[in-house]
This record gives sequence, structure tokens and C-alpha cells, in this order.
Amino acid sequence: MSPFRLTRTLPEDAADAALRDDVLAGLTSTPKWLPPKWFYDARGSELFEEITSLAEYYPTRAEREILVDRAGDIAAATGARTLVELGSGSSEKTRFLLDALTGLRGYVPVDVSESALTQAGRALVAERPGLEVHALIADFTADLTLPDTPGPRLVAFLGGTIGNLLPDERAAFLAAVRALLSPGDALLLGTDLVKDEQVLVRAYDDAAGVTAAFNKNVLSVINRELVADFAPAAFEHVALWNAEREWIEMRLRSRTAQTVKIQELDLTVDFAAGEELRTEVSAKFRRDGVRDELAGAGLELTHWWTDGGDRFALSLSVVR
Ligand code: SAH
Ligand code: TRP
Repeated sequence: MSPFRLTRTLPEDAADAALRDDVLAGLTSTPKWLPPKWFYDARGSELFEEITSLAEYYPTRAEREILVDRAGDIAAATGARTLVELGSGSSEKTRFLLDALTGLRGYVPVDVSESALTQAGRALVAERPGLEVHALIADFTADLTLPDTPGPRLVAFLGGTIGNLLPDERAAFLAAVRALLSPGDALLLGTDLVKDEQVLVRAYDDAAGVTAAFNKNVLSVINRELVADFAPAAFEHVALWNAEREWIEMRLRSRTAQTVKIQELDLTVDFAAGEELRTEVSAKFRRDGVRDELAGAGLELTHWWTDGGDRFALSLSVVR
């Protein structure tokens, strides 16, 4: 079997300190907020995988459709020898790229979720002899150092995960990615598109309540890691469309007035009845916006592909 290597660029104590800082900053702010990367412990990664097969959650199917149709074009335009994937999760859709990139030597999945990386990496090396998988446990919003692998490199950022960053975070992120690329390298970016409000809201508030469980999982992460006493059932999952910002906002609304203790932070947090904790945004895009944000980071949108229903887009920027 070909090698599977797992490197931790995020020391466990640093991750722990970052969680403490984020929870302290977010829960003592008005309004209260938490950053989304803490959703993804093993349970969170599992719940996200469940979300991807929900009838209401169209982005995964739409992006898969584009990859099926366009993986050959992507391979021809990039000739990549290394595929780097940020926020790779289960690497499920990535298989279409791995199949099409005939000159590929190595795959570098990058994720904060160790469980997702290990599962995906082991499955991939077992099914693809000859593929070198070098997984990185890392925060893609922090300083990224990639292993020294052969170019050209294709950096893929799928799933619409870029929409989970705020506009200024996106600008910083894209500039950092641009700095990793040399002439001939490319960025493949998946963006969910602006569409009918009902379709959007349903994708983030499904009938079976899987997204609600995913949203509340962040409370269980804090309970476990920081010895807190959040009662997830005391919060209601809220997903709403912000038409001005063109993003879905996910929140947790306190059903009653309650006090939560976070022992490791020596912190007591009061929630008023109906008070909302902001957990995530999921921005939706238009072609011109994507083109402009890429241009702002010194990247040129060279290809733009959508699915048949114009729900989701993949864009490619090849560096000259
Ligand atoms: N690319 C997959 C998964 C998308 S879900 C798909 O399209 O289905 C978002 C993924 O990004 C999760 O696996 C999560 O663990 C990871 N992630 C979220 N924030 C991250 C961060 N700051 N750094 C690295 N990975 C992150
Ligand atoms: N990147 C995914 C998205 O924005 C993440 C996601 C899907 C998500 N469903 C969610 C995050 C529900 C929080 C809650 O579509």
C-alpha cells in the first residue's frame, strides 16, 4: 500500500488555547458569537456528512455534478502533479479530480478534523495504490506551510466553505493562498450561488433536524473541552437569510433566561430569553463578486462552471 502520512501543524495545546480565546471573546461580546471551525470534532464531521445527503442540502450534489462534467477540463487546464485540498473533510467529491488528474503524484488534504483526515486518507491509499497522501491537520485561516511536493499545484477549496468566512477574512485568506502559488499553479474554488430564499433557508434548516444537531454540536464541544454545562436542548436552531449581505446566518436562540458555567475559563455567561448566539454565516455568491474577490487577491478568474440548475459554481484561477 502507498504511504499515508499525517502531520499536525496545529499543536494540540495551541488549538486548545485558540478555542479558549475564541470562546472567551465570543461569549463576552454583544451579540454573542462563536467561530465555525469548532463545529468539526469527530461528531461534527459525522453530522456534516449526514447533511450532505439530505434532500434539502443541494450544494454537495450540485458541486458533484460540476466535478463530474468538468474534471477533465480542470485536469487539462492545470496538469497538476500535486492536489492540495483545504477543508477536505471526507474527500468524497475529490475522487473525480483524482481520477481525472492523470499526472498526479500526491494529494495533500488539509483539515482541522483529525478524524475526517484519518478516515478519508486511509480509504484513499487503500483504493489508489501509487497515490501519496500527505494529510495536514491545520487551520487554513492561519499560516499555511505546504509540504515540498512537485508542481504544478492545484489548490482546491470546495463545498462553498469560503462562504463561512466573513468578507475581510476571505480577502486575507485568498491573499494567503495566492502567496502559496507559483506560475502554473491554480486555485479551484467552490461557491454556492444566490438563489430563492426558501431553497436557501431549507438547506440550512432541514426537516429531520440534522442541521440543528450540527449547529448545537458546538455547545457539546465546549462542554467537553472547557468543562461547561450548556444544555443543547435549551437552545433553538435558527437559520435566516440576510438579503443585504447575501448570506445565511446560523444562530442558536436561548429558549429561556439561563446561566451557563464554563469552568476552564472561570466564566459565567448569562443568556436572556430569546437571546441569540451567532454561530456561522454561509455567504452566497454571484459571478462578478467572485471575480472581484479573486482579483483583489491578485488571482484571475480563468474558468467559471455551474451545474445545470445554476445553483453552485466552480471557478478556476490559473496563475500566469
Ligand atoms: N470539502 C468537503 C467538506 C466541507 S465542510 C465538502 O465539500 O463536502 C468544511 C470542512 O472544512 C470540514 O471538514 C471542516 O473540518 C473543515 N474546516 C472548517 N474550518 C477549518 C479551518 N479553519 N481550517 C481547516 N479546516 C477547516
Ligand atoms: N460549508 C457548509 C455550508 O456553508 C457548512 C454547513 C452546511 C453548515 N450546513 C451547515 C455550517 C449548518 C453550520 C450549520 O454550506
